[in-house]
Amino acid sequence: MATVFKDPGAELTYDMSDASWYVEDRWQEPFAQLRAHDPIHWTQGGSFGDFWNVTSHKAIQHVEALPEIFSSSYEFGGITLADRIDDGTELIMPMFIAMDRPKHTGQRRTVAPAFTPSEMKRMSDDIRMRTAELLDTLPWDKPFDWVDTVSIELTTQMLAILFDFPWADRRKLTEWSDWAGDIELVHSEELRAERLKHLYEMGAYFKNLWDAKINAEPTPDLISMMIHSDAMAEMDELEFMGNLILLIVGGNDTTRNSMSGLAYGLHQFPEQREKLEQNPSLIPNAVQEIIRWQTPLAHMRRTALADYDLFGKTIKKGDKLALWYISGNRDETVFEDADSIIVDRENARRHLAFGYGIHRCVGARLAELQIAILLEEMAKRRMRVNVLAEPERVRACFVHGYRSMQVQLSKY
Ligand code: HEM
Repeated sequence: MATVFKDPGAELTYDMSDASWYVEDRWQEPFAQLRAHDPIHWTQGGSFGDFWNVTSHKAIQHVEALPEIFSSSYEFGGITLADRIDDGTELIMPMFIAMDRPKHTGQRRTVAPAFTPSEMKRMSDDIRMRTAELLDTLPWDKPFDWVDTVSIELTTQMLAILFDFPWADRRKLTEWSDWAGDIELVHSEELRAERLKHLYEMGAYFKNLWDAKINAEPTPDLISMMIHSDAMAEMDELEFMGNLILLIVGGNDTTRNSMSGLAYGLHQFPEQREKLEQNPSLIPNAVQEIIRWQTPLAHMRRTALADYDLFGKTIKKGDKLALWYISGNRDETVFEDADSIIVDRENARRHLAFGYGIHRCVGARLAELQIAILLEEMAKRRMRVNVLAEPERVRACFVHGYRSMQVQLSKY
């Protein structure tokens, strides 16, 4: 469906699932209109069919706090606006992000120990060393693409460390994740088939890693930890694969686009960048603020399992809802001057970019650690990233990020 505009105040008809809003970076105004005039808004016949748009901070939290009514389960449609297509071009990989209680609880427990504060501490030296090494290879005298050279490389390195993944093959993690996370592909049968090929390749690769680890002594990485955890009894092999893929996809585009958002966003607000450069103790707060401002996943979907009155709107059993984190994080009733990055914003931590409730991102600490280390190592080198031109953005209503961004470094 083409995007339909009407005057503010008239009945609003926006299709916020249309990828052009995001690739052209024009989504801010329509979401502001929706929050002001119709925060729970029905879209009929949008790019992904009919659905409710939940756009205010309060309503998103409300829905996420009711997982028994608003399901994440793949049985009912899963976590993105794209519905399942049963023509053999889809691979159903059960993963706990797309499960409801009680199954979700048991499976989340198998991976949660990999993300405790003590595990983060254990990994941080390695992550810091790799980050420092990479920054020291960057050219100061000529432009380069920040997305490929820094964001993608650091994110894949971080995941390779987490999984003990063969180092030389680590870019495969990026490639697979890009195929798995691109929900716009549902619009093309050819691309869906191509995607399936990549997912099978990924499954086969991880099957080999699993085979190698299952009869070996436990090692301190996520695959071995999962294999040897008590809760593993809760998973069959397909679920194990599904959850591994979840961790790769979950950690990939998201952390990558936060790192690109960091360069782009701070360049948009030079006085805030200077504030941060002058006071590196603001880094932990700035990490939250950058994640809020970027919101690397624009939405998660829920499906209603019962009729429900949501702040005056009647949600019917079977309706799908898009929880637009990208809009909730710009809600002026919660975040003053919400479209600006304010590195010392007091309530930056209230952002919804990691979701809320029982599905809140299990990898949040790792992502925060990686982004904080990047900022700290940049600060040590007095490295400023100047963005030279508008970046090329991802054409999608799910992953919210950048394909490429030309930058030039300078010292401050
Ligand atoms: C869940 C965002 C990094 C693994 C989620 C959810 C969001 C999210 C929005 C769903 C929450 C919900 O449904 O309420 C992000 C962002 C990240 C990030 C913005 C980076 C800035 C990571 C990393 C990993 C990861 C680094 C792992 C390596 C997961 C997993 C889930 C999840 C496994 C499912 C949790 C559950 O269903 O219980 N993430 N994520 N994420 N994320 Fe992340």
